[in-house]
Amino acid sequence: MNRNRRTFIRRTAALASIAPLPAGAQSPGGQSEELIRKPIPSTAEAVVAIGVGTARRYEGAVGEAELAPLRETLRTFLDLGGDVVDTAPSYGDAETVVGGLLAALGHRKGVFLATKVGAAGRSAGSAQIERSFDLLQRKRLDLIAVHNLQDVDTQVPLLHELKKAGRIRHVGATTSSDRQYAAFEAMMNRQTLDFIQVDFALDNRGAAERLLPLARERHMAVMINLPFGRGRLFSATKGKPLPPWAAEFDCTTWAQFFLKYIIAHDAVTCAIPGMARPEYVLDNMGAARGRLPDAAARKRMEAFIDAL
Ligand SMILES: NC(=O)c1ccc[n+]([C@@H]2O[C@H](COP(=O)([O-])OP(=O)(O)OC[C@H]3O[C@@H](n4cnc5c(N)ncnc54)[C@H](OP(=O)(O)O)[C@@H]3O)[C@@H](O)[C@H]2O)c1
Repeated sequence: MNRNRRTFIRRTAALASIAPLPAGAQSPGGQSEELIRKPIPSTAEAVVAIGVGTARRYEGAVGEAELAPLRETLRTFLDLGGDVVDTAPSYGDAETVVGGLLAALGHRKGVFLATKVGAAGRSAGSAQIERSFDLLQRKRLDLIAVHNLQDVDTQVPLLHELKKAGRIRHVGATTSSDRQYAAFEAMMNRQTLDFIQVDFALDNRGAAERLLPLARERHMAVMINLPFGRGRLFSATKGKPLPPWAAEFDCTTWAQFFLKYIIAHDAVTCAIPGMARPEYVLDNMGAARGRLPDAAARKRMEAFIDAL
């Protein structure tokens, strides 16, 4: 057993002793360690199907008491083999926090760091992007996406220039509201993008109607935000047992049920649940292991949630 692996098992054991693993979370010594990775169509590079979202919970962490659990969350995620971390300049000081935590973790190789640009005009966009490089302590970012279509026809060409210059690796655009879907679809048809990011959850399936099929057709990777509807799905299923047939696709917690539904969609590259607790990472990364639900099982999952 190599040193990293021993260290990881020791840390996870320590974690389990302060917070029991959620039922079904895969232990590092578990049976199936292979993480599901999905390809980015424009580059054929693959990322793990579960990433970390940093909205809200990574804002305003200044003291060690607030930073320590976030550091442990990211450490656990990276130790397990995770790669995608998503943040944004509009998440308060989350970029500062994420940049500092990743630096404290030794700027691990293989982190796929994504942020956004949300600004009006080229110079404002450019200034915000330069600040992201500084705060995230990176010379090169893996993805910058235009946030919620803000001045998208100015910012996407700027992002393509940065990609050509080798400063960013992928160009994207995000939305998290069905009120923007028509404009987002039109934008997808006129822009060349490596990634889109859109809201999609078992109880919020509108993106599957047009945006996900269009992404597949346009060879765009898809990152899913709000996979739990900001926790709404946990409230809906609180106190309810998982249906026994969830075992047919290796799912033993509600979080895995919600996430496996998403990542089983063939247009989806990864989901980025908000995770600020190591035990959430252990649980949610279980969704990136084992079998995924097939088309019939996904229909059954929808009917189950719709009937609640
Ligand atoms: N337009 C955009 O570009 C846009 C918009 C929204 C979000 N995003 C991105 O998408 C990410 C995800 O969205 P989100 O964090 O707002 O919502 P979410 O992923 O739907 O829900 C996150 C919340 O679910 C709970 N949770 C996570 N794992 C859990 C587990 N295993 N068991 C029980 N509860 C669990 C946590 O609640 P507690 O912390 O309360 O325990 C967490 O804050 C954001 O962090 C951000 O990176 C992008």
